[in-house]
Amino acid sequence: MPQPTRPVSAITGRIGFAAHPRSITELAGPNEIPRLDARDRPEAEIGADAELDSTIVPEAQIPSSVADPRAVFVTGAAGFLGAHLVWQLATQTDAEIRCLVRAADAPAAHTRVMDTMQRYRLWHPDIAARVVAFAGDLTEPEFGLAAAEYRTQCAEVDVVIHNGARVNHAEPYARLRAANVTGTESILRFACTGPSKPVHFVSTTSVGSATVAGPRLTVHEASRPGLEVLAGNGYVLSKWVGEELVAQAADRGLPTVIHRPDRICGSSRTGATSPDDAVWLLIRAAVLLGGAPPSSGAELSLVPADYVAAAIVRIMTAGTEAAVHHLVNRTYLPLDTVWERLRGKGFDVDVTSVTELAARLAVDAGTDRDLARALILGERATFTGYRPTWDDANTRHALSGSGIVCPPMTAELIDRHIDYFIDTGFLPRPA
Ligand SMILES: NC(=O)c1ccc[n+]([C@@H]2O[C@H](COP(=O)([O-])OP(=O)(O)OC[C@H]3O[C@@H](n4cnc5c(N)ncnc54)[C@H](OP(=O)(O)O)[C@@H]3O)[C@@H](O)[C@H]2O)c1
Repeated sequence: MPQPTRPVSAITGRIGFAAHPRSITELAGPNEIPRLDARDRPEAEIGADAELDSTIVPEAQIPSSVADPRAVFVTGAAGFLGAHLVWQLATQTDAEIRCLVRAADAPAAHTRVMDTMQRYRLWHPDIAARVVAFAGDLTEPEFGLAAAEYRTQCAEVDVVIHNGARVNHAEPYARLRAANVTGTESILRFACTGPSKPVHFVSTTSVGSATVAGPRLTVHEASRPGLEVLAGNGYVLSKWVGEELVAQAADRGLPTVIHRPDRICGSSRTGATSPDDAVWLLIRAAVLLGGAPPSSGAELSLVPADYVAAAIVRIMTAGTEAAVHHLVNRTYLPLDTVWERLRGKGFDVDVTSVTELAARLAVDAGTDRDLARALILGERATFTGYRPTWDDANTRHALSGSGIVCPPMTAELIDRHIDYFIDTGFLPRPA
């Protein structure tokens, strides 16, 4: 089954292996080739997708904060950030956590959430009783739930965290549209059916940063790019359409908050993260090839998942005046520090010329699809000098006094990720 890939937008500077694109493309398989023509729908059709159905109107004006929710509806709970949201909801609130999960039936949906909690080292026996899971799909009318079940959820749920999405930077808009666009419209319809429910929509900084034309500019939380500047990435387009739909629901009176995380890494406590990300694929490639390309001043900025989830849940319960919140790490770590930490763990990772790495890759990638994917992603990681300044004033204001702050990028944070990957076998155990 093809795995999602993401571009290395959180690495600034210039890195990458420039080698053998044809053979590597063949190795990576047809579904994993980054599509540079991802805008595969006419602009007018995408613009039409961004128009919220006129029948979606909230029943009544309600406050945006839900201080003590009884039932929170969460999408994407069997995913990486979703597991952290479940954990934070379980620890910060007394709410029942109602999760929409793709599965054969409700018990299987519940098992999927619990398995994900375990994978990301968030397991606690008390969590199981807090989670009520439904087998459903964002792409189906009324999420594919039985009519009575859908009505019950419309009546009982107090607030929605819409985090579920098809996350794949390599896929074209048309393939992401059902989950990310239709799914978001269905969530807004759900929120407006029966008692109105505030919606917290998990978007991405990539939508805001599309407004930045040059290096070292500030990306404001108020940035709302027009469709014309969003070129080339079907995933970002689909999230942009989602934001537009959410903003129109807000204009009609539904309390909504858009949360835009930057690239998310594992928990700052455990480093447990999804390996299915360009940063970790590149690091694994460096370990397996025994060499890293010259980093030329590249830097890494990642935002730990525990912070992202804690901030979203806090903002949900405490309320906010702001429409958009950036969830970002304002600190950076040189990529060279990552290679140093790998060496400190016993890996041979010498700075090696791109030509030499390409030669090693041509030999090794043949049996290893992740190496081929790392190469493709590395070739795209050429964000020379691009280092935006993130405006996260809304977030810091909303979190002031809560004690929730983004952990800085440190060598120890990288160490925890390396240790987790060695434990799980994603990285080999050093000799
Ligand atoms: N990871 C990042 O660096 C990052 C950065 C910025 C923003 N975000 C946003 O954060 C959110 C979570 O991302 P993630 O990294 O946690 O991704 P993830 O691990 O892939 O989780 C996404 C979840 O959405 C679910 N989903 C996808 N299509 C669905 C459908 N048709 N019906 C129901 N559920 C569906 C997936 O279900 P299955 O498990 O069944 O596939 C999965 O559980 C997304 O909205 C993403 O855009 C992520």
